[in-house]
Amino acid sequence: MAATVIDGAAVTREVYAQLEERVAALGRMNVRPGLAVCLAGDNAASKIYIRNKVRACNGAGIHSEIHPFDADCPQDVLLAALDKLNRNPRVHGILVQLPLPAQLDAELVTNAIAPEKDVDGMTRHSLGALVAGHPLHEPCTPRAVMALLDHAGIAIDGREAVVVGRSAIVGKPMALMLMARGATVTVCHSRTPDLARHARRADILVVAAGRARLVTADMVKPGAAVLDVGINRIAGQGIVGDVDYAGVREIAGWITPVPGGVGPMTIAMVIANTVRAAERSAAVSAA
Ligand code: GUN
Repeated sequence: MAATVIDGAAVTREVYAQLEERVAALGRMNVRPGLAVCLAGDNAASKIYIRNKVRACNGAGIHSEIHPFDADCPQDVLLAALDKLNRNPRVHGILVQLPLPAQLDAELVTNAIAPEKDVDGMTRHSLGALVAGHPLHEPCTPRAVMALLDHAGIAIDGREAVVVGRSAIVGKPMALMLMARGATVTVCHSRTPDLARHARRADILVVAAGRARLVTADMVKPGAAVLDVGINRIAGQGIVGDVDYAGVREIAGWITPVPGGVGPMTIAMVIANTVRAAERSAAVSAA
């Protein structure tokens, strides 16, 4: 039987409806959540991501501001701007869109964001808090995957989860978040011999490898939940995921499409983290 398709766009609409109520409650306290996005250079994909995030802010009644920097912007200039945003009370969340131009140290720049405003969950502080089991802001993509699993009613506790990909922003935090919910987690990556052997054990298979259609039907346990984080642009075919959707759909129990699965939910989680940051700051100032 074909898998149940987890419709990210539909779930996202529900998330926005809940956020609307929280934004309204903040409004009654004269607080409007604000997100600042820093973009250095003119990477085409980054511009699309940012446009989508700004659109989402507008839809959710959140203030957003884009801070553009030249492609040859000196690091000091970007760091000074981040310092100002860190101290700006109208800004509750800050994103530095990646990738950055080569002369900028992405690690150093990202870590200049104040922990309470790190709505991407990318700083060492946020990742360390997650490891310690006391998350502040969780990275948006793994948070989106968790929310989709929960929405579909997929059990996590006691299940076998396999994460394909070991990046600091998706694979590693994903493994930690699944582990925190009681899954037994295996992390596979580009150096894993026999990926299929591991993947076939998964009740929950999260694929964030950055390789188009890497996971095929023969690598999936019948009935498994398959969550595809990949976004691969292929000439003449548009955007495809890291999972061979047509084949895996016949085997899996649940599957997320690309586009329209994890992607829209990830943007909703940026907004959710910004609203939460505003709520925390309102609680601090009310205390
Ligand atoms: N570039 C691609 N995806 C992301 C993301 O989620 N956050 C940031 N800051 N940059 C990105």
